[in-house]
Amino acid sequence: KTVSQSLTLTNGTCNPDGNGQRLCLLVNGVYPGPTIRAAWGDTLSVTVTNNMQDNGTSIHWHGVRQFNSPGSDGVNGITECPLAPGQTKTYTFKVTQFGTSWYHAHYSSQYGDGVIGPIVFDGPAAANYDEDLGPYVLSDWYYRTAYQINSIASINLAAGGPPPNADNILINGTNKNKNGGGSYNQVKITSGKKYRLRLINMSVDNYIRVSLDNHALQVMTSDFIPVKPFYVNTLLIGIGQRYDVVINANQTAGNYWFRANVATDCLSGNNFYGRAVWSYSSVTAGTPTSTAYTDGQGCIEPAQAAPYWVQPVPSGSFQQSISALDVGLTKAQIVPNGDAIIVWAINTSSINLMWDRPTLKYLMEGNTSYPTAYNVVPTVNAGSWNYVVVQMLPQTPPVPHPFHLHGHDFFLLGQGSGTFDAGSASLNWATPPRRDTATVPGGGWLFIAFNSNNPGTWLMHCHIAWHVSEGLGMQFLESPSQIQLPDQGQFQSQCKGWEDYYSTAYW
Ligand code: C2O
Repeated sequence: KTVSQSLTLTNGTCNPDGNGQRLCLLVNGVYPGPTIRAAWGDTLSVTVTNNMQDNGTSIHWHGVRQFNSPGSDGVNGITECPLAPGQTKTYTFKVTQFGTSWYHAHYSSQYGDGVIGPIVFDGPAAANYDEDLGPYVLSDWYYRTAYQINSIASINLAAGGPPPNADNILINGTNKNKNGGGSYNQVKITSGKKYRLRLINMSVDNYIRVSLDNHALQVMTSDFIPVKPFYVNTLLIGIGQRYDVVINANQTAGNYWFRANVATDCLSGNNFYGRAVWSYSSVTAGTPTSTAYTDGQGCIEPAQAAPYWVQPVPSGSFQQSISALDVGLTKAQIVPNGDAIIVWAINTSSINLMWDRPTLKYLMEGNTSYPTAYNVVPTVNAGSWNYVVVQMLPQTPPVPHPFHLHGHDFFLLGQGSGTFDAGSASLNWATPPRRDTATVPGGGWLFIAFNSNNPGTWLMHCHIAWHVSEGLGMQFLESPSQIQLPDQGQFQSQCKGWEDYYSTAYW
C-alpha cells in the first residue's frame, strides 16, 4: 500500500528547556517533528512544503536505502536543488527496511534549528516486549542558532580550537535548564512489563551515553539492523545512530533517572546532560534519588552488535581494492569574503557542493566527469565489494567522527587507533556489525565494506553538522549508467525555482 504524509516547514519560536524563546524551524508546527510511520513493503510518499523564510531545504530519510529512487535521497548539491521558500516536493520511495530512524534537513546545518523527526518502519514483530514506548529523541540544544554556531565553529577550527559547547541535551524535545526552568520528560512504567524504546541521536555535535538507573538495556537493533540481543548498562550513541532496546521493569516501585549524558570522554568538553524521570505506576512521580551506573567508556560502537542474520564479507583480494580516504585539514579559499579558512578534507579535497548544480543534474546533462569540489569516487563494478578505509591523518585534531553512508548499510570490519595496517589490524570478516553510521576513532581508522548493489550518487560524510558544512564528505558514484533518474519536470522546475529565489533574495 502507499502511505502518504505531509510535512510543512515554518519559521517559529520554541523554548524546549525553559531558557527562553528562540528561532526554531518547525515541522508541522512542532519540534521535534512528527513521527513518520509506515510498514515494511509500503511505498511512502511524503509531501514537503517549504514555508520557511530565507531557507532552502531538502529532507533526507536517514538510513533509507532508496533502491531505484536515488532522487528521493534529499541531499542538496547531490540529488536535488534546494526547495525554495513557497515550493513543494513529494518524495516517493519504497520501504525496504524496518526499525527506527529519523529524517532531517540536508541543507547546511539547518537541522540543528529543528527540521528533524523520527521514522518508524514496522516489520516482523519481535515478541519479547509488552509495549512499544516509541521513539526517544536525543538531541543537543544551543541557545544560539545553528547558523551562528556553525560560523563560530569554523572560526574556532581555523584557530585550532573546538566548536562551542551545547547548552543542553533534550530528551523528546524537553529538559530542565541549569537554572531549574523547563521540565523533564516523564515516562510511566508498570512492574513486570517489558518495554521497547527506540533511541535516536539527532544531535549536531554530541555523542550521547544513555542509561536508566537500576535497569539494564537489552539491545535489539543497531540502526536498521536486528542484532543478536545483548545487555548493557550504558550505551554510547553516535550522531545519526539508533538503537532499539528492551527494558524489563523488574523493580517494584520508585522513580529512576533516565540519563542522556554527553560522552565527554569522547568529544569536546560539554558538561550538560539530558534527564528524564521514569516512574513505576505504583508511585507518584517525583525526583529520583537513584544512582547512575558507572560503567561505559570509550568512543566506538559496542563490539557485541553482531547482526542477527550473519553475512560474512569476502576477504579475498581485498587489499587491492582498498581506497584509503585520508581525513585531514586543508586551507582553502572560500567565497564570499575570500578568507583562507581551514576546512576538513577527504582525499585532499573538501566537498563543496554547488546547490544549483547537483550531481544528478550533471549526470542528466550527460557529463561523465565532475568538478573536484564534488569529491566524486566511483565504486567498483556492480555486484562487487567496495572496501573503504577512512584514515585520520596524524596532523588532524584527534576527535572522533561519526561517518554516515547514504544508500547503503555497510559492514563494519574494524576500527582502531593510529594508522591502518591490513596485516596487523584485528578485523571481523565473519560476523561484522552492519549499520549506516559508525565512528572513525580520533586519530584512527574505520574500515567498512559495502556491495555495489544500488546505482546512485551516495554521500558519505561526517554527521557532525559543523564538519559536513566544513567539507568533510565525499560521494560515491555507483553504476552511473543504471541510475534511475528522477522525474525531469519536477527536478528542473525545482532547480529553476531555486535559481529564481536565489537571484532575487537579499544575501
Ligand atoms: Cu543523516 Cu547525510 O545524513
